[in-house]
Amino acid sequence: MPLAEHELASAATTSALGVAFGVRLLVALSRSRALKPLAAATSAAPCRSRRCRRPLFLLPLSFVAADHEQIRDKLLSKLKLRQQEGCGSHGEDKLSQRKLSASLKENNFCIPEHVDQFSMSQIRKATRRLSSKNLIGQGGYGPVYKGNLGGMPVAIKILKPRGSQGFPEFLQEMVVLSRLEHPHIVKLIGVCPESCSLVYEHLCNGTLLDRLKQGGLQWEDRIRILTEQRSALVYLHSSRPNAIIHADLKLNNILLDAGDVSRLGDFGTARVVPVKPLEEETIIRRTVPMGTMGYIDPVFLMTGKLTTASDVYAFGVVILQLLTGLDDLNIVEQVRVAVKMHAVNTVLDPSAGTWPKKPTGQLLKLALRCCSWERKRRPAITSKTKWRSLHTLRAMSTSANKTQK
Ligand SMILES: Nc1ncnc2c1ncn2[C@@H]1O[C@H](COP(=O)(O)OP(=O)(O)OP(=O)(O)O)[C@@H](O)[C@H]1O
Ligand SMILES: [Mg+2]
Repeated sequence: MPLAEHELASAATTSALGVAFGVRLLVALSRSRALKPLAAATSAAPCRSRRCRRPLFLLPLSFVAADHEQIRDKLLSKLKLRQQEGCGSHGEDKLSQRKLSASLKENNFCIPEHVDQFSMSQIRKATRRLSSKNLIGQGGYGPVYKGNLGGMPVAIKILKPRGSQGFPEFLQEMVVLSRLEHPHIVKLIGVCPESCSLVYEHLCNGTLLDRLKQGGLQWEDRIRILTEQRSALVYLHSSRPNAIIHADLKLNNILLDAGDVSRLGDFGTARVVPVKPLEEETIIRRTVPMGTMGYIDPVFLMTGKLTTASDVYAFGVVILQLLTGLDDLNIVEQVRVAVKMHAVNTVLDPSAGTWPKKPTGQLLKLALRCCSWERKRRPAITSKTKWRSLHTLRAMSTSANKTQK
């Protein structure tokens, strides 16, 4: 459902107030210790059927130290209280875009120069007043519209009023995504702070889930997409001094351009974690469930500890989905049984063409290891040797494509 004008105005006010308080919170936090630009976050929130997300509170990692915990908890509970009170009804608290940008800048949360800032009226104009004809999707954050800004097709994600997400997710996505540059990660073009909207490049072939359901995606393309997405994860996990955990990898968050080249999107739940030298695992603690059912690392669900291995788990599910064409919650179990019974062929998606038997079987087994309950058994995404079967299939697919031409 598209947002009505008055709803949008109320969203803008609520967001602006959230921003106002969020900024005040950040000011207080930054007074006690300088905030790192790529701050990490933790979250807490109501569960939805397939997806589990809670109101998210920004929590810079520099505040994990015990002496800051008290200040942080006090400020976070204040923010929670303000959110529960439904702040946003008093017009006089509304921040102007200029004031907001100035506040963000003051607190080292300046919007990077290459990220454009748009006003509400520009967003309205770009989407033909949020016309339902331009509505292309609806996620947990809010509706997504196709638009046109300066002749460029864009996708605009607008914060839904009174939803479970808000300014923290907006800030999180803006701060993280604006600093990333990778051929297989979606580009953030700009933001509209007034309405907490995010403006991305438009990827016209939609999500990988839709593409898979349409049928006709050949095994060579599926393997190429997996290689592209692994390279995006290698980029995130090997980023230093802070590694980035995507935390919501799934077919719906992989978008395709006109040539079916993939880009990973949706960084609202991404976490930025400092990597300690010689430490094998990069962990963020105190994070409550988030992500999407079927892709969530069971160890994270049980312990609340999020690591890069949680992305590896989700990537394992993505591999299984692309190889089998299945979208069932028990996909891991189905494939495990087939592998155990030496019946790999029975689960491979026949509509993808003729899968090369041996390396595809090996990739299926590797995907199952990604989905292992024991984190240590999961292959690191950065390990070249562990991902040999994917490379072999990629090499076979490119030579198969050349022969066809
Ligand atoms: N850059 C984009 N280009 C084209 N379509 C997009 C783009 N970004 C999002 N979409 C469309 O909007 C839909 C909603 O996106 P969004 O990421 O908000 O939700 P989701 O991933 O489906 O759900 P969730 O709330 O669980 O993340 C996507 O499924 C996709 O169809
Ligand atoms: Mg999404």
